[in-house]
Amino acid sequence: MRRPMVAGNWKMHGSEAANSALLSELQMRLQSQWPIDVAVFPPFVYLADVVRRLRGDAMLVGAQDVCAEAAGAFTGEVAASMLRDVGCTLVIVGHSERRRRYHEDDALVARKFGAALAAGLTPVLCVGETIEEREAERTEEVIARQLDAVLAMHSIEAFERAILAYEPVWAIGTGRNATPAQAQAVHAFLRRRLSDQNAMIGGQTRILYGGSVKASNAAELFAMADVDGGLVGGAALVADEFYQICAAAAARH
Ligand code: 13P
Repeated sequence: MRRPMVAGNWKMHGSEAANSALLSELQMRLQSQWPIDVAVFPPFVYLADVVRRLRGDAMLVGAQDVCAEAAGAFTGEVAASMLRDVGCTLVIVGHSERRRRYHEDDALVARKFGAALAAGLTPVLCVGETIEEREAERTEEVIARQLDAVLAMHSIEAFERAILAYEPVWAIGTGRNATPAQAQAVHAFLRRRLSDQNAMIGGQTRILYGGSVKASNAAELFAMADVDGGLVGGAALVADEFYQICAAAAARH
């Protein structure tokens, strides 16, 4: 019922040559009949070119961040309407690297989520705890706070057009993924929290897992009942890895 998604967050990687090689190989190998959504999230400067390259292809294109403001004197920022204008359909908000390195708080993330929706983009809202928070058994408290900030500003109905991603900070770029059971426990918690407000929306919202997803662990993670696919970093830059992760998601249903 929930269509799996595999999303490749390229972070600050890529070049025209590297993007072209990666996308060509993916276009050759990904099967259009697979019942999954595949999306790539290149850096801003490559978005328009990637959209052009993928024209006529089922692969979706999204941005890694967006300005909370609609337009104006915000040097260096990119508005949601501009992302839409160049053909993006998705945008990541609240990635832990933005929260931690650029001090984005829950309120700013919630405003970015709203800016994305207002422009007709699908926000991919990231939540996740640090290792210190997990060890202090504060995981649920932290991700509930991150999710509730968005629910409070935009209401549960906003999730009819949004995707959630659970990305434990300690699993990002570390090679140490959450175990399938750890991921499932948090995904079930997030879904319950949505369902408490609206059972139908809770049941339909896709919740992706991110944090050291690779070809070798994708199938066991995607086998979990509430894990609807992956938000992939490092492995999204390697065509064969990303292809195999997509194949694992396609095999799930
Ligand atoms: P890695 O897959 O490199 O751990 O990154 C995960 C991530 O942050 C995706 O947004």
